[in-house]
Amino acid sequence: MSAAADRRAHWRDLVARRLPEAARPGWPVHLDHCFARILLDNACGGPWRDSVAAPAHANMPADGRADLALLNRRSLAWRGKIWRGKIATAPVPDHFDDGDLLLRRWRPADTAPFAALNADPVVMEFFARLRTEPQSAAEAGSYDRRFVADGFGPWALEWDGRFVGFVGAFRIMRSMPFPGGERIGATIELGWRLARDAWGHGLATRAARLTLADLAGRCGIRTVVAYAASGNRRSQAVMERLGMVRAETFAHPGVPEGPLRSHVLYRLDQAGVSA
Ligand SMILES: CC(C)(COP(=O)(O)OP(=O)(O)OC[C@H]1O[C@@H](n2cnc3c(N)ncnc32)[C@H](O)[C@@H]1OP(=O)(O)O)[C@@H](O)C(=O)NCCC(=O)NCCS
Repeated sequence: MSAAADRRAHWRDLVARRLPEAARPGWPVHLDHCFARILLDNACGGPWRDSVAAPAHANMPADGRADLALLNRRSLAWRGKIWRGKIATAPVPDHFDDGDLLLRRWRPADTAPFAALNADPVVMEFFARLRTEPQSAAEAGSYDRRFVADGFGPWALEWDGRFVGFVGAFRIMRSMPFPGGERIGATIELGWRLARDAWGHGLATRAARLTLADLAGRCGIRTVVAYAASGNRRSQAVMERLGMVRAETFAHPGVPEGPLRSHVLYRLDQAGVSA
């Protein structure tokens, strides 16, 4: 059997037999197609049919330990079957203002400037590859859908009325090799990416502070991590300005073997945020 056929057989066995057999009375679902929906929606960051072609068994989500109830809530939220208030502690604000800075939900018009920064080799120095316009559109869409699923996400950032990138929080939807990161969905990460001409003005740090205040105040989330490629000093400097504490280095499982794989992890308990 080829590796792909082998994986498909494994997937069919997982959703059609092992998960339904393992289901307990307290589990939110019991049927094979429900397990397939939950795993695929979460692997795709939205209703899976928006991203991949049917049949489902041709597409496999990441493995690892996960909270099935959390994955189910996210999947149902994308499908409009749960009121968003059930996901976050309070409704998601449309935007935050801070003088010349605006954090807001994503708009279709963001795709072009987002694609431009995703195609800039300076901005993408610590990423494995540049992104095309369709990839950037898909990335922006998946970022905005995080607000629907989780009640928080990476905000589109405007500076003096112009889209300059994103800053915000991500629920980490893969198993990560650091303490607490093993369980899919349990850890919240801060992230940022700005156009080159928006660097050097303190925007990432300001926007991250607004994100942290919203996470603590509205969502009740006080503990976050952030990580960057070991060579990405500018990103680590943002973490340090936020009062985050360097914890350890780890090999990022989503980055190919090579110099970008080694990452530095920072942690923050919001009691330690500097003003
Ligand atoms: C990581 C990244 C967001 C950092 O941007 P940044 O502008 O350096 O970070 P900040 O917003 O904290 O700004 C700090 C800079 O603004 C300057 N600054 C100006 N006014 C400031 C103010 N009021 N407050 C704080 N800093 C200010 C600081 O001196 C510092 O500049 P310096 O590094 O030249 O000394 C940016 O480099 C980036 O988008 N990189 C590419 C994508 C990326 O790597 N993302 C992270 C992946 S893990």
